[in-house]
Amino acid sequence: MTVTAIIGSQWGDEGKGKVVDYLAESADYVARFNGGNNAGHTVINQYGTFKIHLVPSGIFAPQAVALIGGGVVIDPEVLIDEIRTITRSGLEVEGRLWVSPRAHIIMPYHKILDGLYEAAKGAGATGTTRRGIGPVFADKVSYNGIRWSDFAREKVLLERLKTQVELKNKIIVALGGERLDFDQILETYLAHYETLMPFIRELFPIVQDGLRQGKNFLLEQAMGTFLDTDWGTYPFVTASTTIPSAASAGLGIPPRFLTDVVAVTKAYTTRVGAGPMPTEIHDTESEVYRRFAETAVTTGRIRRVGWLDLELVRTAVALSGVTQICLTKLDVLTGLREIQVCIGYRLDGREVHYTDLDSYGLGEVEPVYQQLAGWDEDVSRAESFEALPQAARDYVKLVEHAAGAAVKWISVGPERSATITR
Ligand code: IMP
Repeated sequence: MTVTAIIGSQWGDEGKGKVVDYLAESADYVARFNGGNNAGHTVINQYGTFKIHLVPSGIFAPQAVALIGGGVVIDPEVLIDEIRTITRSGLEVEGRLWVSPRAHIIMPYHKILDGLYEAAKGAGATGTTRRGIGPVFADKVSYNGIRWSDFAREKVLLERLKTQVELKNKIIVALGGERLDFDQILETYLAHYETLMPFIRELFPIVQDGLRQGKNFLLEQAMGTFLDTDWGTYPFVTASTTIPSAASAGLGIPPRFLTDVVAVTKAYTTRVGAGPMPTEIHDTESEVYRRFAETAVTTGRIRRVGWLDLELVRTAVALSGVTQICLTKLDVLTGLREIQVCIGYRLDGREVHYTDLDSYGLGEVEPVYQQLAGWDEDVSRAESFEALPQAARDYVKLVEHAAGAAVKWISVGPERSATITR
């Protein structure tokens, strides 16, 4: 049996979707345990190119059962849309995807409040994806949430939803927004529930059966380590626990069953939204900026970019007990004459670590760089570690030495096949 958590060791967008799609070939269960449709995963395989936000990326492995745990918050429209898209691509989803009735539901007022709070914070805004994530998790832990299980009890649903819409309307109006109509929300969401009913099922017996039978589980984290509410760059974080411990509560898997933690690490750093980023490159005209620039899958925003920050990766490895690293996007570095890698931080002349600092302190550190030689050879068709140019191999070795975990896989292109296993 293996229970493998796949986590991002940076600020998300490390390429977890591709890695999960690759590793799902040997999985019996693929599962999401945290976050919501603020996540965006790009998966390219024989069925097509998919940008998915809620359904586990491992759904494309036809033998795998896909689970969306109670730790995930769900925007029903997004989920319905994804189920339809995947079904249209030729894959059977019904009977193979199960959604926990414990999952909380993103309501229209959550999305509106997300936008209003961001606007009210002005320059101090988090730069959220505006998908309602902060407000729905706030409702969850303040006992104001609505779950799928509520839809199975009409009286409970009517009472609870009515209270929430009235309460939220007061806040929305006070912040300059427009009142929402209860009847319209109810009608729309009852229709969503009707559509999703065949997928909603308590996961406990499914997970317990799998564990008892020694099956292989692949648990997909959404976002990245440094967006974690507790260990990330608070307040510039997301509203859920992103480290592997969340997989336990979010899916009902006891912590001692976790066998592997794979950190997906991009060969450089990106960040979407506000918050400190020590290795950020500000020169938008530079060759390296243009090379690293990417567009976020969920919001279409241009990601902030920077050199690889190994102080972050090292912290993520220790924090989550990472057993292997998958280094992604190595091919993007091809053609750079020199490559900088941040191997630590200094503040006021002293060496400091990520965990010594709060978010504002992290914004003041000076990265310590090690300079490495680049390479010109195309690496995108390399099939083994030995086939990579010496400079690329040195880069990989520096990552594993500084991070403290072995690089087991190297991704050299977006397709499933462009993956080197060591
Ligand atoms: P929220 O999760 O939409 O509330 O946004 C909070 C912060 O997390 C913002 O900086 C977002 O840009 C960031 N964020 C949320 N989801 C992702 C993701 O999947 N990739 C990268 N950044 C994300």
